[in-house]
Amino acid sequence: MRLIVCDSQKDIANFGANMIAEVMASKKDAVLGLATGSTPIPMYAELVRRYEAGELDFSTVRSVNLDEYYPLAPDNDQSYRYFMNHQLFDHINIDKNNTNVPDGLAQDPSAACAAYEQLIRELGGIDIQVLGIGGNGHIGFNEPAETLDPLTHLTDLTEDTIRANARFFASEADVPRHALTMGIGTILSARRILLIATGAAKAKAIATVLSGKLTTSCPASLLNLHEDVTILCDCDAVSLCDEKTLAAFA
Ligand code: PGA
Repeated sequence: MRLIVCDSQKDIANFGANMIAEVMASKKDAVLGLATGSTPIPMYAELVRRYEAGELDFSTVRSVNLDEYYPLAPDNDQSYRYFMNHQLFDHINIDKNNTNVPDGLAQDPSAACAAYEQLIRELGGIDIQVLGIGGNGHIGFNEPAETLDPLTHLTDLTEDTIRANARFFASEADVPRHALTMGIGTILSARRILLIATGAAKAKAIATVLSGKLTTSCPASLLNLHEDVTILCDCDAVSLCDEKTLAAFA
């Protein structure tokens, strides 16, 4: 696991965009695993800037997103499909047919989840998976629990997550109570993982991840099982890590 602590949002956006550009340069039809939430927005803006400057070409790139609320229509302005279109896809030359987000209106969610796993296999796997992290240590919608699901599945949102995400909805009651999400095994099967964390609200979860211990009460801690993970943070997100832990990553 590699830890990069940056002084500014701009540096985080640049570093993250460099990692994605590197993957795209090494593979014309790279498969980008993408995440929603407020954290990756500056990095997506930087990717758009580089596309507009003629530095990046997304025409042959494919993408798979981590998760989607359930039930929620793709044209609902709170859906993750809508987020991706508005933050990234509408501003670059990616073919929308090559972008994939779990179907928030799937009639048969368990069949849709199995089909999503099959799709990832058919694409040849994920070259780089971008992740945010919840204050409670969730990645995707893999919430703290006694057991975790390995593959894409329908899950219940915890009260913590409903509360944290209510800021995007008219009221807490409007937040969907379920989601379709890649599982921990799906995430760990990506060739590279880039987790971005900013702000003190993420400090406890990041301290647990960097402690190296594995616990299902902090699903992100399972990233310690993967050999190519970059944690890209600001100073606030590492504010609960002790000197010894930080020194181990220096
Ligand atoms: P945030 O969400 O980027 O909006 O903080 C991250 C997450 O909950 O995974």
